[in-house]
Amino acid sequence: SGAPKPRLTFLGCGYLGSTYAACFAELGYEVLGVDIDEAKIAKLSAGENPIHEPGLDELLKHNLESGRLKFTTSYAQAAEFGDVHFICVDTPQRADGEAADLSYVESVVTTLAPHLTRRTLIVGKSTVPVGTANWVEELACKHAPDGVDVQIAWSPEFLREGFACEDVLRPNRVVFGVKSDWARQMLYAAHKALFELAATEDREVPVVVTDYATAELVKVAANAFLATKISFINAMAEVCEAAGADVTLLAKSIGYDSRIGNKFLRAGIGFGGGCLPKDIRAFQARAQEIGAGEALRFLHEVDLVNQRRRNRVLALAADLLDRPLGPAGPDLAGVRIAVLGAAFKPNTDDVRNSPGLAVAKALAKANADIVIYDPEATKNARRELPDVEYVTSLTEAVTGADLTCVVTAWDEFRRADPHAIGELASARRIIDGMNCLDHASWIAAGWDYRGMGRPI
Ligand code: UGA
Repeated sequence: SGAPKPRLTFLGCGYLGSTYAACFAELGYEVLGVDIDEAKIAKLSAGENPIHEPGLDELLKHNLESGRLKFTTSYAQAAEFGDVHFICVDTPQRADGEAADLSYVESVVTTLAPHLTRRTLIVGKSTVPVGTANWVEELACKHAPDGVDVQIAWSPEFLREGFACEDVLRPNRVVFGVKSDWARQMLYAAHKALFELAATEDREVPVVVTDYATAELVKVAANAFLATKISFINAMAEVCEAAGADVTLLAKSIGYDSRIGNKFLRAGIGFGGGCLPKDIRAFQARAQEIGAGEALRFLHEVDLVNQRRRNRVLALAADLLDRPLGPAGPDLAGVRIAVLGAAFKPNTDDVRNSPGLAVAKALAKANADIVIYDPEATKNARRELPDVEYVTSLTEAVTGADLTCVVTAWDEFRRADPHAIGELASARRIIDGMNCLDHASWIAAGWDYRGMGRPI
């Protein structure tokens, strides 16, 4: 209490920036969201949210109304307004390789810095190669007017799609990579309301204060660990398939050991999304550059296991449909397949690097006649895979299907009644690509069921 709340800007109003802007306004800060895309800013200013994220619409509307949240395309206005500026732009995989593309980070910093007139903190949130904060510091100092003290901090985000607002408002930790006391104090001030919210809910948010490099690495190390955990259980699924064992019970059993933990041990068609796949590649590329390539060689295997799982669905389809599996994959001509799902995981409309959509593409390429149903991601999926049939309900999708494949673990699919669906399908054959169905009830309803890493 006492010290005024710093005013915050979020530079880049994509998934990350728009979520942070709305959540920090909700916490009581004066917030400005900044983006060069005029159409996006016009929409956000009108309370229209371009992304599907539970709870975000309400937070946007509520805080636009309260006046604490505003949006602009003007970097001059951003510099005038903000005490702390958060870099929230995307760092996609470069077109020419596996490294991260930092051109958006660069343009945000070099556009903002010349407008600064007072002591300012710029905080990196984007996922970046280690060493980026030092580079941003040089860039900012070079482009800021003489005599203006511009300082840097790195504070990675760990939010999950589908839980983004919750993860921003109630993080399991925050990491502050700083060089000066002032930067550390400003970061605490910019998060004070977050700590206060935790206190009212009898929680604590652990804070790790560290240097730039550690803060940058925390993010990619966390994602590399999660990816490795998934590929580990998918590798076990391969072994289970060879041994006639059941990976779901294996995962359950090892997960009881709290050192291992039961989360992120679901075998399936592999991990996807806008983060894990690109992050493990960029991490390897960066480690190579700084002479630590050998340390991350295992991530190459993690990637290979992950890609391999998708082929398993094709092999299972060929087996269930009695089609030979040639070296070029099966020929599934004349077969109608209901593909349930397209999003890379449930509760999102995101199809970036979606393993489910990759499976759908492979089935279509094998000449199957596929029909896709996803509760949220149809619009995005259609862009990636235009020439197949999309329907707007589960029942439409399964009607007349010779084979049903679940590729995204939506609740709607888990809750589906195997008897009712069996009445609509032309054959009771199902591949559970995410091991998300209650297989006993499907088998009891007469379905020929195939899971991932489970005995046939
Ligand atoms: C991931 C991380 O979980 C976040 O902590 C991180 O902040 C975020 O990336 C990021 O870097 O921004 P997200 O991409 O939203 O979040 O997705 P996850 O929930 O991690 O799922 C990733 C993929 O793994 C999905 O395709 C999911 O289906 C798959 N998965 C997950 C499995 O195959 N098995 C599991 O047991 C868990």
